[in-house]
Parts: sequence; C-alpha cells; structure tokens
Amino acid sequence: MALPNINPTKTTSWKKLKNHYKENKHIKIKDLCDDENRKEGFSIQFNDLFVDFSKNRITKETINLLVELAKEVGLQDAIEAQFTGDIINATEGRAVLHTALRSTSEEPILVDGKDIKPKIQTTLRKIRSFSNKVISGKWKGFTGKSITDIVNIGIGGSDLGPDMVVQSLKFYKNHLNTHFVSNVDGDHVSEIIKNLNPETTLFVIVSKTFTTQETITNAETIKNWFLKSATIFDIPKHFVAVSTNLEAVDNFGIDKSNVFPMWNWVGGRFSLWSAVGLSISLSVGFDNYRKLLDGAEEMDIHFRNESFAKNIPVVLALISVWYNNFYKAETEAVLPYTQYLSKLPDYLQQAIMESNGKGVDRNGNKIDYETGTIVWGSTGTNMQHAFMQLVHQGTKLIPADFIGFKEPLYDIGDHHKKLMANYYAQMDALAFGKTKEEVHLELKFSGDEAKINQLLPYKVFEGNRPSNAILFDKLTPYSLGKLIALYEHKIFTQGILWNIYSYDQFGVELGKELAKKLLSKQ
Ligand code: F6P
Repeated sequence: MALPNINPTKTTSWKKLKNHYKENKHIKIKDLCDDENRKEGFSIQFNDLFVDFSKNRITKETINLLVELAKEVGLQDAIEAQFTGDIINATEGRAVLHTALRSTSEEPILVDGKDIKPKIQTTLRKIRSFSNKVISGKWKGFTGKSITDIVNIGIGGSDLGPDMVVQSLKFYKNHLNTHFVSNVDGDHVSEIIKNLNPETTLFVIVSKTFTTQETITNAETIKNWFLKSATIFDIPKHFVAVSTNLEAVDNFGIDKSNVFPMWNWVGGRFSLWSAVGLSISLSVGFDNYRKLLDGAEEMDIHFRNESFAKNIPVVLALISVWYNNFYKAETEAVLPYTQYLSKLPDYLQQAIMESNGKGVDRNGNKIDYETGTIVWGSTGTNMQHAFMQLVHQGTKLIPADFIGFKEPLYDIGDHHKKLMANYYAQMDALAFGKTKEEVHLELKFSGDEAKINQLLPYKVFEGNRPSNAILFDKLTPYSLGKLIALYEHKIFTQGILWNIYSYDQFGVELGKELAKKLLSKQ
C-alpha cells in the first residue's frame, strides 16, 4: 500500500482545530491545572515509563480533534504499511524496516518477496560472536595483544546513533574504550589517533554507501597511520566494516569475513539497531545491546496497537503539531535530566530534522503550511544556567520535553534528590510562572516602593509555557531503547500528518556536490 496523500489543512478536523484554536488560544495552563483530576486525564503510564502531558495548552477537545486529524490522514494504515514492509520511502523506492531489526515475533516480513527475518538473525549472531571474541580478549591484534580500544569511523546516522548510545550507557560499559571519528576536519582524527596504540585498536568503518567523503577520508588516513607500524596483511585483524557496498569495502582491503551487512530498507538515521550498532555491542556487551533492541520493540508494539489517545508517540506528535501549526512555535527543546544523555539532542537533530525538514508534499506540491520542527537542547541542570532564561522569559514559545529518571545510577549523597527537584521545579515555573502580586509581596520586605516598582516587571514570569514530563524508572539499555523508539515513531507520525516523505534526505546532496566541484578545481 502506498501512503495516503492527504493535505492536512484541507481536512475537516483541521478546520475544526483552527476554530478551536481561535476560541482557546488564550487558555491558561494554570487554570487547566486547577482541576485536580487534570494529571490523571492527561498522562499515560506504560510499564516503567510515565508521560505527563498535563502542562500543555490543551483540553480534552484539543486531543479529540487532533486524534480525529490523525484518523483522517490515515495514520493507522500508514503505521501498518511501515511495519509490514510496504515501499513507503517512495522517493527512494524502499521499505522502511528499522522496526524489523528489533522484532522478536515470528511474523515474516517480506522485501522483494523474501523474508528478511533470517538475515537479521544471522547478523545479530555475527555481532554477538564478534563482540564476545573482542571483549573476552580472544581476538588478537597483529602483535598478539588483545584489543583495548575501538574506533567507530562514520558520520551522520553511521556515527550519531552509536555515539549517543555508547555515551548514554557508559555506566554499563566494559574495559574497552570506544572513540568516534566523524568530521572531515583532520584535527578530529588526529586528536583521536594520537593516543592510540595500533597494536591494540580495532577500527569499525561504518558507511551504508561506503562513498561518504568524510568517512572514506578518515578511514584512509587511519589506514595509512596503521600501516606505519603494520603491513597490509595485518589489516583483517584491525579493520572491520558495516556497509551495503561490498565491492568498495573489498577495494579498501577489508576481509570479506569482517564485513557486517547493512540493508537499503534501513535508513542511516534509524540504523543503530542494525550492525551499525556494532560499537554499542562492543562497548556494553551483546546482552545489553539486545536489551536496547527489546526496549525499542516494546515501544513498537505499543505504537502499533494502542489507540491514538493513549499512544505515547502519537500523543506527543499531535501536541507538537498543535504548537507548530497553530501556535506557530518555531522550535522544541529536548532536556534530559541526566548527564549520560548529553548527546541525545544532537542525535535527535539528525533523526528529526533530516526526516521532517521537507517543503514538498507526497503529491509533489510545494507546501504552504509548517512542517519539521527545529529541535535543540542540553542536559539539566547545566542548561538552567545557560539558555533557560530565554525559555522562561523570552518572547518565543518553546515547548519542551523534560526527560527524567526516578532512580539514579550512582546513588551518591542527595544529588539525585536535588536533580529531580530541579526537574519538577522547571516545569512548574514554566507552566505557572510568578504573578505581579507574588513578586510585589516578595519585594516588599527588601526595599522601598520606588525600587519595587522599577524591578517588578523584570521579575514577573508570565508562565503558560508548555512541557511534557517523560519519566522512566531508571536509565537502562531497555529504557533507552524505548525512549529512542518513542522519538522515531513521533517523527513518523508527524511525517504522515504533514503529508511528507520522512525517509529521504535529498536536501543534503547539493552541498556535497558543490564541495566536490570546488575540490576538483583546486
Ligand atoms: O548526511 C546524509 C547521509 O546520507 C545521512 O543520512 C547518513 O546517515 C550519512 O549521510 C552517512 O551515510 P553513509 O552511512 O552512507 O556513510
């Protein structure tokens, strides 16, 4: 089945939403939250995950109309089309099956008439056996020493996903040190290799196409550096590749047995669940890697089967559309309250903005409504001392996701208590603000009336700034898998609603072409 081609702004529910917006645009989160049952009606508990979306400028009617919109644009059929392997990436003529990579069900998934599940299982076994050999020290380098360092060479989806997950799961890591080289800037690769021992380093070259300028340049530089101490016969012990382009991998000199497959039905930015995640498995062990996949699968099942009003990725996608298309909010913030997730915003920037940064609809027409959100963020509490001033008192409306964990990984002193107090306080401050009267009362004790009047306007917080609380019990490989899959499905849902193709990325091509032309002239 092809995806439906429905202009969302021409639907009945969109018209109703427009009227609903006109009537309710001045609604106050504070007033909505006066209802003591508000949280119950605007939250979803899903095993170890609790999502509280009560601090938004929405009523039951808003959700109902947004759900109606999702139905009217054919979201349910689109979800089924994605999960069952239809060619929904029509501009590239491909299926989109990152969900199949983590599926443990017996349901066959056909691509070109063949079930892809067996090759996924074979690849997972290969990842497991290779990771076990390297981690246990059985895999030896060219001088007979075990591996101590892993270097992932890739860019975009072949870098950001593994890098983010390795950083996020640092608590679960083994003795191997994992590094990431991505930028074509020679200083990046130089800084990484300067402290490495070629005898004990394993290089994982990750490139779906194996033609990406940055990756091939870095891989060649590293190979030349390696060959200063070793010979070409030592390459198989130190270089492995993840790619669909077997010929190019062979030309680079990588042994066939050291190649992990990639498939064209997995998009680069959704590929950490494939062998692109090899460095994750090496860093935290295959069992933890499998748990990451299992957590994602739990979210997949929820997304595929749950009714829209109780479906976490769908609800978050709809709320985001509400702000993006009706309130005209330009950006969204992602704010994890754990240092481990410091790379999540970067990762999501590619996943979200490369997917939904499109201006032509599925009919080939130029779009005259807003699509892809701009996403940015950083970890709490650091960002409270950086950009949160603007989020609290600036002129822009910035809906924010606050990602938190009930339990810390290191339970040290009262750090976690303080961290979580800040987590909740920020959302309250954004939603409820501080009135003139409250500020006046506070200032009364500290100065004369003239000073009070001068300072008062600066100290008022208007509030009414929306946020979602995304709260897990604990940061584990399982919960991280669930979190990443949540955002993947939010992206997909929004792509369907905006009537765009989320899985191509032609917008990155022109710059690449022009850089090549400039290079050839030099
Ligand atoms: O930047 C464009 C892009 O194609 C991304 O979508 C992709 O993740 C990245 O380049 C790397 O591509 P490859 O894995 O083919 O080297």
